[in-house]
Amino acid sequence: MVCDSHGNGDCAKAETVPSPKRTDETVVSLQKNGSMDYNAAITGCGLYSPSRVLDNHDLEKLIDTNDAWIRSRTGIRERHIAGPDETTSSMATIAARRALQDAELDPRDLDLVICTTTTPDYLLPATACLIQSRLGATNAGAFDINAACVGFIYGLTTACQFIRAGGAKRVLVVAGETLSRFVNWEDRSTCILFGDGAAAVVVEATTQSAGVLSTVLGSRGDVEGSLLIEAGGSAMPATAETVAANAHTVRMRGNEIFKLAVRAMAQSARDALSKAELSIRDIRAVIAHQANQRILTAAQEALGISAEQMFVNIERFGNTGAASVPIALTEYIQSNEIDVGENLLLVAFGGGLTWGAVVLRWADIAAVKLERESMLRPTRQYLKTG
Ligand SMILES: CC(C)(COP(=O)(O)OP(=O)(O)OC[C@H]1O[C@@H](n2cnc3c(N)ncnc32)[C@H](O)[C@@H]1OP(=O)(O)O)[C@@H](O)C(=O)NCCC(=O)NCCS
Repeated sequence: MVCDSHGNGDCAKAETVPSPKRTDETVVSLQKNGSMDYNAAITGCGLYSPSRVLDNHDLEKLIDTNDAWIRSRTGIRERHIAGPDETTSSMATIAARRALQDAELDPRDLDLVICTTTTPDYLLPATACLIQSRLGATNAGAFDINAACVGFIYGLTTACQFIRAGGAKRVLVVAGETLSRFVNWEDRSTCILFGDGAAAVVVEATTQSAGVLSTVLGSRGDVEGSLLIEAGGSAMPATAETVAANAHTVRMRGNEIFKLAVRAMAQSARDALSKAELSIRDIRAVIAHQANQRILTAAQEALGISAEQMFVNIERFGNTGAASVPIALTEYIQSNEIDVGENLLLVAFGGGLTWGAVVLRWADIAAVKLERESMLRPTRQYLKTG
């Protein structure tokens, strides 16, 4: 599936990008014309990583493994594990507050909270509702998306579509995972891979020809057994037997996923670039799902990019599921000065199987904030009522 504001094209046409420095004229054109096409730009981001670190040497004490094997096969040195009082929603709320602070946005100005997770606090209610309430996002709708490790790409695409369709102006996309609670700590082929954490972005309407340029989503449900948590849903409700059989934890056919992952990431990245009418040379950095260093290297080679263009932080986080791409994106944004008009490519694969990619053009965030002010002025009722 390809994101398209009008039915069959790209989210924002790359060739129409004007000079990135737009401030006053953007606001003026918005005031003149109440109905216009909006693009969706990221204006703030934040992450939260639990303080407890489990390194490969700690794992050596739990299972038959060793640091050298894990590092050479996965690139992972350590992962963060949620504390006993932490949950997906508690971590995601902290990440969301940081993203809102970065965007200088009051939570009451959010129209929508989208949480992407495979490890929700509960089956019901949605984790997004818990986050919405803790943030005090009293004017926002809230729902969850489960697209496994591609969740953030699906969430960002959804936010973009809401904004393009006029259904929302300011959307929080937050991804959180507590995978440590769904891992069989006796299964050395899976427990070494996963970690916990959360990250969030604020996505806002802008008249700039920037933000999300194109998106691609894909799925193949016929290989769902390659990565699965079998019990706990309607197909296999929880019983003493399912607990005893460890059926509430991740089961994975690692080799199968490995091959599909490289192919899916490379193809969806190419498709998203083609929709944005860009080439890989136009991309400043690729922010990919951090599942395995060898998958990242293979995808890098398939895309023909340098190691510098492929952002990697798997060594310190492991695979944090849906939170992986936004954690990497947040780290990249916080440690690099991105110029207005530069392009980033986000790409991921995950259980389902699912895959997807997004091409982002960095917006003039100060100008988006000015636009925000003019949009909010008539609707800020709560300032009067407290
Ligand atoms: C899981 C993964 C790291 C395994 O690496 P691999 O090179 O494929 O290793 P294999 O599964 O072929 O196992 C090779 C050997 O290492 C052993 N092994 C597996 N885990 C081990 C561990 N933690 N420590 C030491 N040895 C281990 C296996 O038992 C096997 O031994 P054998 O040859 O005696 O049978 C790799 O397949 C992978 O990363 N796949 C993708 C998974 C993924 O990304 N999932 C998330 C999707 S979002």
